[in-house]
Amino acid sequence: MQNIAEVLKKNGQTQILDALNKLSGAGYEKLKKQIEEIDWDGLSVLIRDYVMHKPVTTIPDDLAPASYFPLVPKDAEQEALYKRAFEKGVELIRDGKVAALTVAGGQGTRLGFDGPKGTYPITPVLHKTLFQYFAESLGRVSEKYGHRIPWFIMTSELNDKATREFFQAHDFFGLPKDSVQFFTQGFMPAVDYSGKVLMSAPDSIALTPDGHGGTLLALRKWGCLDRMKELGVEYISYFQVDNPLVPVANPLLLGLHALENSEMSSIMLSKTNAFEKLGNFCVTGGKLQIIEYSDMPKELAERTTNGKLDFIAGSPAIHVISRSFIERLTKGGKLDLPWHRADKKVAYVNADGTLVKPEEPNAVKLESFIFDALPLASTTIILEADRKECFAPTKNATGVDSAESCRAMLCARDARRMDLAGIPVPRKADGSPDCTVELSPRKIFDDADAVEFFRKNPVKAPERGACVAYE
Ligand code: UTP
Repeated sequence: MQNIAEVLKKNGQTQILDALNKLSGAGYEKLKKQIEEIDWDGLSVLIRDYVMHKPVTTIPDDLAPASYFPLVPKDAEQEALYKRAFEKGVELIRDGKVAALTVAGGQGTRLGFDGPKGTYPITPVLHKTLFQYFAESLGRVSEKYGHRIPWFIMTSELNDKATREFFQAHDFFGLPKDSVQFFTQGFMPAVDYSGKVLMSAPDSIALTPDGHGGTLLALRKWGCLDRMKELGVEYISYFQVDNPLVPVANPLLLGLHALENSEMSSIMLSKTNAFEKLGNFCVTGGKLQIIEYSDMPKELAERTTNGKLDFIAGSPAIHVISRSFIERLTKGGKLDLPWHRADKKVAYVNADGTLVKPEEPNAVKLESFIFDALPLASTTIILEADRKECFAPTKNATGVDSAESCRAMLCARDARRMDLAGIPVPRKADGSPDCTVELSPRKIFDDADAVEFFRKNPVKAPERGACVAYE
């Protein structure tokens, strides 16, 4: 107790001590434990550098666009490489060398949904949740390639219990329980603009998840790297919980990653405009780095050559990461990725014990980002993908990158697959489907599956305005 008091006083956080002194019993023990888990000296340095000052990202002089493998191979040699890579990727899945990893620890504040984001109903007809969609898709890839892909799901302390209960309540959506492993990311205290750590309840500090960069250390801390090693997993297919359009395992990316001896690989999308809100793949000092859209200087973002944006490569946060790379990075249980500041509305209890819900951002949340591991990799590759086949983020309730736009993209992808299978889907003048269709990820992982499914289960073309699911 003496020690806690000294540490908090030394670091100018006596409001936490005052809160502790008002408590007894379980509440006292809970807050004491939280206080003991925080590195207060280290936090003071971060508060100085990220809260009391707004860090400015310096853009290196040598910043150049990153090169990438194009969506359409540029010549016969590259075409042959893609073919070999795809086969290699399939072989890796079949040999049990691939695990899936979903980061689901975020707070999803923009979506405004009460509960873990993965429990959000997303599909356009049957309203399957994000977790169910991924689970069924993983079930199908595992069946297709003859090996059960283990699934690692990162939660945060704020949603871990609810996430586990959701899977239990739905019997793991038919997946063997032991093929799914949850692990919890670290946290950071939220700090107000005067540098004081906030309390979210009389007996709790306002803790926020430490960003998806926290994945790497959390994988080590919870023994997931050891578990992967035991299972023979060498490569991790990484994706975000809010993007149901992502192929949960991408044989081409996996194969290229392995053939090129990459440690961390990424999917890239051609940006739709200079200021699209995607991180930019750049190279500096010979290393790949992602510069956030908000940090990219206007003149660089807008620069073109022959009418095409120089910095065309945007990141949809889809990666393949080698297990050995994470083991190397987190050796000794430490990893210092840079921190990023986010200004957020954080509800807090004030000195009188009243809960305050601010209307405007009142606090800083510090997060680390997974893509900051890219410059630490000895080799990286980037593969261009078709946005319509892999990226439909569910960030907001309506509008751009919303549940609504995500549903439309799922429907459009499935309609295209039906066309391919010889079942013409009625279209509007702009080419979008004039009906709502949903194909089951339990049966259909890729285009070939769709053709096979409808060959075995012939159906009539849907009518205009129809709303149909094919299970
Ligand atoms: P976002 O950056 O979109 O954050 O996360 P978010 O918390 O989900 O949503 P907002 O910003 O509050 O509206 C991108 C992905 O990274 C995961 C999220 O769950 C999502 O899959 N993530 C984010 C974590 O797993 N942990 C974090 O600390 C932050």
